[in-house]
Amino acid sequence: MRVCMIGAGYVGLVSGACFAEFGHHVTCIDKDERRITALNAGEIPIFEPGLAELVDANVRQGRLEFAAETGTVAEADAVFIAVGTPSRRGDGYADLSFVYQAVRDIAPLLAASAVVVTKSTVPVGTGDEIERILRDLRPDADLPVVSNPEFLREGAAIQDFKHPDRIVVGTDNARARETVANVYRPLYLNAAPMLYVSRRTAELIKYASNAFLATKITFINEMADLCEQVGADVQDVARGMGLDNRIGNKFLHPGPGFGGSCFPKDATALLKTAQDHGVPLRIVEIVSAVNDQRKRAMARKVVAALGGSVRGKTIAVLGLSFKPNTDDTRDSPAIPLITALQDLGAKVQAYDPAGMEQAKPQLPAISYCGSAYEAATGADALVIATEWEQFRALDLTRLKGVMARPVIVDLRNIYRSDEMQRAEFRYVAVGRAGVE
Ligand SMILES: NC(=O)c1ccc[n+]([C@@H]2O[C@H](COP(=O)([O-])OP(=O)(O)OC[C@H]3O[C@@H](n4cnc5c(N)ncnc54)[C@H](O)[C@@H]3O)[C@@H](O)[C@H]2O)c1
Repeated sequence: MRVCMIGAGYVGLVSGACFAEFGHHVTCIDKDERRITALNAGEIPIFEPGLAELVDANVRQGRLEFAAETGTVAEADAVFIAVGTPSRRGDGYADLSFVYQAVRDIAPLLAASAVVVTKSTVPVGTGDEIERILRDLRPDADLPVVSNPEFLREGAAIQDFKHPDRIVVGTDNARARETVANVYRPLYLNAAPMLYVSRRTAELIKYASNAFLATKITFINEMADLCEQVGADVQDVARGMGLDNRIGNKFLHPGPGFGGSCFPKDATALLKTAQDHGVPLRIVEIVSAVNDQRKRAMARKVVAALGGSVRGKTIAVLGLSFKPNTDDTRDSPAIPLITALQDLGAKVQAYDPAGMEQAKPQLPAISYCGSAYEAATGADALVIATEWEQFRALDLTRLKGVMARPVIVDLRNIYRSDEMQRAEFRYVAVGRAGVE
């Protein structure tokens, strides 16, 4: 089949490369010409494990190509829209301008037999609006619009795309359903469940899923705060809860609050949809508010670890991306943590294996270092903000040797208190006993 992806970002590029791997002929189209030039030169503009190899193999086999122009849309059986839907500045609604612009761009070119599939995360009813735009611009054709939300996680995107828990297909149109089923056929032969629902239902499944996961994270974060006050260990609480199959052990890791390009903006957009329909979503409201406060509040942990003030102190921060194995720093908890530390008078030196370039516009006034040890050099405290593998087994003796004071604030709970005690660090963790 011939497939076009509109938008070659995290979702478009990964989905496009995986569809090509299934054997389809795929064109990833992005209006960012520099991105397309880089891709055509064999450079991958995002950090995602395994993506470079996958793209390279499929380009070489002639199944994957990149274009800044929309021309190839004319031959496509299915055109997927995978452009960004960020929070709209000022009011928090999902900004759908990229989606609608993409639809207007492709409308004149679409074959009468084509199917338009929305992969971007869009509020309930967006598919109806896309259909209206297409009807206006192409009164000659009956172009169905499907909602096919994407659930991949950055950092494990290829694995997630190839082995999804489910594929949600929202449409009432038989032809569209068959086209999308054909695109995904290699996956459901491997028993990935296809869930056929109405378009509005599919749109809501995505938001409900993200809001639920965000709720789980926030729940265990609050339990961690309580553990600190009552002398319990949140890791054990999470394990004890997670072994219950009704609860499950995923997303019960306490930390500095959820971030990334999806959960925060999707929770806000869901709240806006609910408000517009007069339905209060109090749980999601609280989750969003608690999480916002938490990110900056993490700075207080650092202040307390340094005896009440960070003014004039140097703080090393390890990790800027919102999670490991990605360069994505959008809404990363490390950003408000660092700005709070700066506001309190600290000097920050940071290291991230992949996210430093992305972080620079948001954090122009910190020192960017070449390694964890360089960041730690001369620091009064070291904060672990993202649990990259390479931060899990730092040489504690070396670290102690380069730091001004042996203080570690582990916001991801990746170290054990007894090893910190042996290495003679002051150690602060989340929701469990540290070392004084
Ligand atoms: N990143 C994730 O982990 C993830 C997971 C699931 C769903 N989503 C959703 O998928 C969508 C895309 O997210 P992303 O992280 O891939 O975004 P992204 O910002 O990485 O990529 C979007 C790309 O679309 C391009 N673009 C914008 N308008 C265009 C147009 N008219 N024509 C062609 N290209 C255009 C941009 O230049 C950009 O390269 C969002 O709705 C997001 O919420 C993201």
